[in-house]
Amino acid sequence: MLEIKNLSKSYGNVVALNNVSFDIKDGEFVFLTGHSGAGKTTLLRLLLRQILPDSGQIIFDGVDIVNLKKQEVPKIRQRMGVVFQDFKILPERTVRENIEVALAVINLPKGEWKARVNHILDLVELSERADFFPAQLSGGELQRVAMARALVVNPKIILADEPTGNLDWVTAEKIISLFDHVNKEGKTVIIATHNQAIVAKMKKRVIELKAGEIVRNEYL
Ligand SMILES: Nc1ncnc2c1ncn2[C@@H]1O[C@H](COP(=O)(O)OP(=O)(O)OP(=O)(O)O)[C@@H](O)[C@H]1O
Ligand SMILES: [Mg+2]
Repeated sequence: MLEIKNLSKSYGNVVALNNVSFDIKDGEFVFLTGHSGAGKTTLLRLLLRQILPDSGQIIFDGVDIVNLKKQEVPKIRQRMGVVFQDFKILPERTVRENIEVALAVINLPKGEWKARVNHILDLVELSERADFFPAQLSGGELQRVAMARALVVNPKIILADEPTGNLDWVTAEKIISLFDHVNKEGKTVIIATHNQAIVAKMKKRVIELKAGEIVRNEYL
């Protein structure tokens, strides 16, 4: 579903990615690891087409992401769920409203919102918190709101950047199990993380970057 070919990206004279190539098949669960500055976030941002590479190709479901026409970008983005570390949760909206934002973006008819949101709240075990505001939630709960918002549009792939970054071990494990559950239901999952303990425990595919190059690509 994803073919990365000879991808390179620099910021000025900082080389963030240098000639990176790999494939990810439908339904895979992949950890993207590497030290701070290795290029993980850059790679995720390229996949999301938030930034463009200097050279190389990204083929997602047969579509060339790099050379996409501007009007085709939203259609592709709809198939990608994103969970970033800073959550990007709106503080003045409830949990339910935060999730609905994602449905508004894809223009889903309002009549269908309630059922879709209820289903996802149930999945992330936040049904009881639907009408709470973000300030009333714990870090793990906020992370689950971010996941719910990513999942509610029913994407083919979930991209997460350090989703367990600020969480304690037990909470981090729960979040990762949720990604595992979603993966077992058929979604492709890519998680960028420093958390070597989680990576070792989950025994999934690992792609490790070092100074913008792949130094490890294996199935644990
Ligand atoms: N917007 C930017 N402008 C300039 N340099 C950048 C920018 N974003 C990233 N970089 C540089 O590119 C390199 C790769 O950064 P990136 O954020 O991809 O690393 P990372 O693996 O996600 O690190 P971390 O684990 O700390 O999140 C780093 O040297 C970083 O300083
Ligand atoms: Mg990063």
